[in-house]
Amino acid sequence: MKFIVCDDYNEMSKEAAAIAAAQIKEKSNTVLGLATGSTPVGMYKELIEMNKKGEISFKDVVTYNLDEYYPISPENNQSYRYFMNENLFNHIDIDMDNTHVLNGLADDPEKECESFDKAIEEAGFVDLQVLGIGRNGHIAFNEPDSILYAGTHVTGLTQNTIEANSRFFDSVDQVPTKALTMGIGSILKAEKIIILISGKDKKEALKKLKGEFIDPQCPATMLMAHRNVTVICDKEAWND
Ligand code: GLP
Repeated sequence: MKFIVCDDYNEMSKEAAAIAAAQIKEKSNTVLGLATGSTPVGMYKELIEMNKKGEISFKDVVTYNLDEYYPISPENNQSYRYFMNENLFNHIDIDMDNTHVLNGLADDPEKECESFDKAIEEAGFVDLQVLGIGRNGHIAFNEPDSILYAGTHVTGLTQNTIEANSRFFDSVDQVPTKALTMGIGSILKAEKIIILISGKDKKEALKKLKGEFIDPQCPATMLMAHRNVTVICDKEAWND
């Protein structure tokens, strides 16, 4: 695992955007794995700027998002589909048909998850996966547990995550208690992974990532099993 420690959130966002831009320049039909949450927003802003300046094009880029609340309508302004449209897709030259977010209203959520993994496989797997991290070390919506799912699946959210994410909702009881999420195995199939970590709330999770143990109680430590992971963090999250 490679660590890049940046001075602040801005520098972290620029660093991450540069990696994504280089990937897109190298392969115009790159398959990107994308994350929601507040952490990647700065990176998305940088990518929008680069696209506006004509430095990169998303014309042939294909995206798969990590997760979506369940049940939730894509039109709901708290859905991850809405988030992605607002924070990235609506501002770049991407073909919306090439953007994939799990359907939060799927009648058969298990089938939706199965089809999602199949679609990623058919697309040739993710070239570059962008990740954030939860305060409890979750990635996507893979919450700490004694066992973790390999594939995309339906999951319950922990109280910790519901509370952390309630800042985006009017009240804590509006946060959906379930989600559809890529599994650890689906994430590890990506060719390259970058994980963005910012702020002191993430210190404990980052400390475990710097350690030597893979611990399902900190799902992000599963990334130690991958060959090409870059942690891009700011000084606040870095523990020294
Ligand atoms: C959510 C998402 C994760 C994200 C996490 C952290 O739970 N499912 O993919 O990494 O929030 O969010 P933030 O970046 O806002 O701290």
